[in-house]
Amino acid sequence: MVVSLSRQGNVGIITVDHPPVNAISAAVRAGILEALAQAQADGALEALVLAASGRTFMAGADITEFAKGPAGPTFHEVCQALEAAPKPIVAALHGTAFGGGLELALCCTARVAVPSAQVGLPEVKLGILPGAGGTQRLPRLVGVAAALDIIVSGDPVAAPQAAKAGVVDALIEGDLLAGAVAYAQSLLAKGQPYRRVRDITIDPESIPADFFAAARARFAKERRNQFAPQKIVDAVEAAVVLDIDAGLERERALIAECFVHPQARALQHVFFAERQVAKIPNLAKETQSRPIAKVAIIGAGTMGGGIAMNFANAGIPVTLLEVSAEGLERGLGVVRKNYEASAAKGKLTAAQVEARMAHITPTLAYSDLADADLIIEAVFETLDVKRQVFQELDKVAKAGAILASNTSYLSIDTIAQYTTRPADVVGLHFFSPANVMRLLEIVRGEKTAPDVLATSLELARRIKKIGVVAGNCHGFIGNRMLEGYGREANLLVLEGASPAQVDKVLFDFGMPMGAFAMSDMAGLDIGYRSRKERQLTNLQARAGRVGDKLVEAGRLGLKSGAGFYDYAPGSRTPMPSDATAQIIAQVQAGEGISARKIDDQEILERCFFALVNEGLKILGEGMAYRASDIDIVYINGYGFPAYRGGPMHWAENAIGLKTLLERLQHYAAQTGAPWWTPAPLLERLVSEGRSLASI
Ligand SMILES: NC(=O)c1ccc[n+]([C@@H]2O[C@H](COP(=O)([O-])OP(=O)(O)OC[C@H]3O[C@@H](n4cnc5c(N)ncnc54)[C@H](O)[C@@H]3O)[C@@H](O)[C@H]2O)c1
Repeated sequence: MVVSLSRQGNVGIITVDHPPVNAISAAVRAGILEALAQAQADGALEALVLAASGRTFMAGADITEFAKGPAGPTFHEVCQALEAAPKPIVAALHGTAFGGGLELALCCTARVAVPSAQVGLPEVKLGILPGAGGTQRLPRLVGVAAALDIIVSGDPVAAPQAAKAGVVDALIEGDLLAGAVAYAQSLLAKGQPYRRVRDITIDPESIPADFFAAARARFAKERRNQFAPQKIVDAVEAAVVLDIDAGLERERALIAECFVHPQARALQHVFFAERQVAKIPNLAKETQSRPIAKVAIIGAGTMGGGIAMNFANAGIPVTLLEVSAEGLERGLGVVRKNYEASAAKGKLTAAQVEARMAHITPTLAYSDLADADLIIEAVFETLDVKRQVFQELDKVAKAGAILASNTSYLSIDTIAQYTTRPADVVGLHFFSPANVMRLLEIVRGEKTAPDVLATSLELARRIKKIGVVAGNCHGFIGNRMLEGYGREANLLVLEGASPAQVDKVLFDFGMPMGAFAMSDMAGLDIGYRSRKERQLTNLQARAGRVGDKLVEAGRLGLKSGAGFYDYAPGSRTPMPSDATAQIIAQVQAGEGISARKIDDQEILERCFFALVNEGLKILGEGMAYRASDIDIVYINGYGFPAYRGGPMHWAENAIGLKTLLERLQHYAAQTGAPWWTPAPLLERLVSEGRSLASI
């Protein structure tokens, strides 16, 4: 029985018991209706409590029904039945009352919650809107502005805040059910009429005339290119101008528009991709992960300090090793500054800052790493330094310790050879800033043991990252794909587009910033040095020519106040630069290129098709387990818009594999550049009429 009715005196308790998260499946909906009918018919019961057992109140709709289509009683029938019940109903919330869970609670007479509970309407994260009355009832309960913020953000609201806002009527310290029953008694004591959310009307006069226009404009900026947030504004506006039944109808029409929009499909793809990504194919069932209680990090630079913060935040003690006391002091200073910045924003208390700092123990001695379960190296990016470090680690690390490298490009197999235990060596590639970026590439060397991969994936979850397993190739998944994207952006500029034109196309597509603004931010000297160190063909080198000349002219990017763009003193806003335009013209003259007008479509195609073609090569070579893993890398490591589903989903659904193949062939024929050769996997998929998911 997924739903049961029990009694405490004159209060009936309807309990949903549908592990793990009490998803509101057809059986749950039918069960609630049945329990409600029984309770109504029972003359001894005067009030009701709607509760759920296990770790949470109903945490939302059953998302698997999205694909299958609904069966059994609809959400609306359950909402209507709860709302129409003559006996008052108190929803007793614990855990996460999200989505449909909160919408059902909004149909009850009152809501009580334990302080640790969270409420929220996360539908926007799936490209839709709350479709069971959330957009109509929440504004009636908490006001239009607060409701809009909750619904458009999709973020959880902690019970104490929810109580302040008016979503929750009372916080219950101690036993939730007892508190809910007592609250139901207090409603009975106050007597009729019981407040129903549907009966609240919003006075249109209380809302500024331009409120909804301003909201649309704000979300057009903050939620750039996104469909659902605009539809949410429409729905909330309906809560003001329409009566509840007409409003609910409007909500249904608007959610239907969202459902058929490609963004909903893309975001659902991302939702399922995130659940797939931690699965290692063919992993033996008996594989146990290794316990990680102590961590050590080598190098307290840009990455090492940020990586240490992740563990300190998760309450895992970290030992941080540097070559010099100054290096340690500098590194720890940056960590402290970061924590203090969070404290200044009210995200941490002063005591929490100290507690986290206390989790990080500085050292100069390798012998202090002997008890670490995991050691992550984040020293300079040269094989020679990595070799010294790993040879040292091999001597001091305990048996079974995982030895990880944060290298961006170097071979994990080569690094593993510096030890006598290559099975324990893995790449743990964090992204900068390492305490912020959610992606963790877990690089599988040829000899990396399966339990090391499983442990790494589990650890990623523990430190609130999303781990993606990548094969050991130059740049792994993310940076390997980025190379083609950056190369095309640069070649387009050589051929006649301006950096600002290229960046605008990339930004308008949904990237957080364009390729040149990004290069300026990272520092142009990084690419410069790496080009000097590598053997590049003439064709490859050409893409770096403008960057080389800029660096040689002292334009290193944001840090020197000038790069591809000019920057006013103290400003981070890129401004088109005449000096850069001159350098571009010089390089064009030197290369014998006459600038042409380049249209935006070509920019879009060349940057993203180069990126996707490399992704297909990576997939074909088995360097990623699934196309959807590549999507997760790009969304979480590079800011690729989630509402486009990631580059692979976008290529397949918005472009089509056949069209992609034709365009790659076109650019290959036009340029003769080897990198435009279509990935063999793409040719195979197109000729066999198969999809990316079929691999
Ligand atoms: N910066 C990024 O955006 C980024 C992103 C992902 C990965 N990485 C990789 O992370 C690694 C570190 O990069 P970073 O940007 O933090 O460099 P960094 O120069 O900021 O820091 C490196 C630190 O390592 C220390 N160090 C050098 N040799 C050492 C040794 N033998 N023992 C102990 N400490 C030593 C240095 O004193 C320095 O503090 C590199 O492999 C890099 O490719 C960097």
